[in-house]
Amino acid sequence: MKVSGKHYKTVWFDSDRNTVCMIDQTKLPFSFEIIELKHHSDTAKAIKNMLVRGAGAIGATAGFAMAQAFVEARESEDGNYVEAARELIEATRPTAVNLFYATNKVYTSGQESVDKAIEMAYQVAADDESDSQKIGEYGNELLKDKCRVLTHCNAGWLAFVDYGTALSPIYKADEAGKDPFVFVDETRPRGQGARLTAWELQQAGIRHKIIADNAAAFYMQKGEIDIVITGADRIAANGDTANKIGTLEKAILAKEFGIPFYIAAPFSTIDFDSPSGNVFNIEERSDDELLYHEGPDEEGVIRKIRMASPDSEGLNPAFDVTPAKYIAGIITERGIIKTEDLLKNK
Ligand code: MRU
Repeated sequence: MKVSGKHYKTVWFDSDRNTVCMIDQTKLPFSFEIIELKHHSDTAKAIKNMLVRGAGAIGATAGFAMAQAFVEARESEDGNYVEAARELIEATRPTAVNLFYATNKVYTSGQESVDKAIEMAYQVAADDESDSQKIGEYGNELLKDKCRVLTHCNAGWLAFVDYGTALSPIYKADEAGKDPFVFVDETRPRGQGARLTAWELQQAGIRHKIIADNAAAFYMQKGEIDIVITGADRIAANGDTANKIGTLEKAILAKEFGIPFYIAAPFSTIDFDSPSGNVFNIEERSDDELLYHEGPDEEGVIRKIRMASPDSEGLNPAFDVTPAKYIAGIITERGIIKTEDLLKNK
């Protein structure tokens, strides 16, 4: 997608220099910076510290990191180099299944040759991009003229290699002249809606407003939200879906107010080995995300300020699991699939 008129992907790989390049999302929306990571351990650290985040982008990055490790292993005497690298990469973030999907694919291809590992890493990223495009096309069919969509967190192009999942249908609807309006939340704990989704929509010139996470019921009750679309970090075989904390609340509210609630995600986010969401490993993040806020002061200097009682601690689960019964369908690259039909489409 475009930033100030220039096309960017969220993450890309320069195999000639064995370097992963990415937009540093911790700096957005206040500054736009590209960083270069020349070693798989730096790339892994970037995933862990959320310089790159979002299921698809994490997956593509993990695939590139795995390819970097295969290239580095040529110079290493450690016969276990690639396996140790895989362990390091897979320990960065536990919930988004795309990470494990990508490391597995690249690791397996790398058994044939280093070139095959690189080829597969590119393929995983290219598939992520084309899947996102198709999700946009299918999802657009759900959106009518002047539709009012609520999305939670960021499942836009920054969360993938390009286009995104939950925002992709909105981009397509906008291109089709439907003039969508987006209610943007996840203002706490991490602020990925307020910071990233709002920035993306602003760049694309799409009408939107940021709302507090607890304002969704207010607008639903007033009949101002037509549809809810969010992304996913992991979907179980029965359709239960892990996504950013607060998603479950939106899904329950949507049911109460008779608003269709859709998940947009590629098949690489479906974990057919998990029969239900009960077995998901839900990441607990530092309570700093909750207790502090970060942003520019009036002089434009980025500051971190405490916004909670000084001696209190917080609890900060990063994701929750929405049971399949709340989900009207999963918008995938193969079409919109009912949760009960997922296994048939394996
Ligand atoms: O912790 P993050 O920012 O990596 O959160 C994950 C997500 O980006 C969201 O849950 C998103 O909606 C999933 S779609 C990639």
